[in-house]
Amino acid sequence: MDDLERQFEETVARHDRIEPRDWMPEGYRRTLVRQIAQHAHSEVIGMQPEGAWITRAPSLRRKQVLLAKVQDEAGHGLYLYSAAETLGVTRDELEARLMSGAQKYSSIFNYPTPSYADVGTIGWLVDGAAICNQVPLCRTSYGPYGRAMVRICKEESFHQRQGFELLMTMMRGTDEQRAMVQESVDRFWKPALMMFGPPDAESPNTARSMAWGIKRHTNDELRARFVEMTAPQAEALGVTLPGNDVDWDELKRVVSGDGPCNAERLAHRQQAHDDGAWVREAASR
Ligand code: 3HC
Repeated sequence: MDDLERQFEETVARHDRIEPRDWMPEGYRRTLVRQIAQHAHSEVIGMQPEGAWITRAPSLRRKQVLLAKVQDEAGHGLYLYSAAETLGVTRDELEARLMSGAQKYSSIFNYPTPSYADVGTIGWLVDGAAICNQVPLCRTSYGPYGRAMVRICKEESFHQRQGFELLMTMMRGTDEQRAMVQESVDRFWKPALMMFGPPDAESPNTARSMAWGIKRHTNDELRARFVEMTAPQAEALGVTLPGNDVDWDELKRVVSGDGPCNAERLAHRQQAHDDGAWVREAASR
């Protein structure tokens, strides 16, 4: 092992940060580009399921809160694309990999949001799962990624609380509203568990990512933490959580493009990219 490799290993072992100018193994760089890009793609695609409810929010206050949240997600995507660019890739390259299917985004965003209660459930469960996964990433070994996570996590906690408050308001409403909330939770609970990735025994990347300090916990550890955090919240809401018996073949199907909304999400993203071409062209003059 030469001095540069030793310096890298010692920095990671001390839980210190690797910075863009530091030497790093090509595999470490590639893993970071893959994970940070997927994270950024998830934030941007993730605007679609809730964004569909902005024009149909039941009050001005709900519209304002939802607008603020969706706008935050766009900002999270920008921070993360900027972190990925420090690794020598361009945003154009990453967007092209997303559109071609060469890179992924979180499976959770390939599920439909037919009910307004889904806006609350996404805030409570999806952003709640994101918080469980992202707080440890504030301590990830790659500096720009960890620092981007600090602000993202602060905003995620607002996202999770506004979702919980929306659901609590509905649970204090009519029987029909309570049924809407339970139906939404029934649809989103297991896909939210899938956000943490496959079981550790089926995760090809976790061991390596843990050794490099990119991940600080395994998929199953974070999933268990999320279940433990959510159970009392469900009780306070008065909803029941479906079992934790996830169909991992469903995750494989959704991740490989065969989810309920994959085609729609990518087509919408492509359309937004095309519609924004004139802005990019004007900005490049
Ligand atoms: N959706 C899509 N792909 C998934 C997935 C999921 N839920 N779970 C796993 N995968 C993919 C992985 O990307 C990997 O494929 P690849 O090698 O081609 O990239 C493969 O399945 C095997 O999974 P591993 O567990 O071995 O892969 P990782 O070590 O990368 O772990 C992860 C997967 C836990 C999602 C990890 O990448 C991670 O922690 N990413 C950062 C957080 C993140 O991206 N969260 C997504 C949601 S963002 C969000 O929720 C926004 C919020 O505002 C709501």
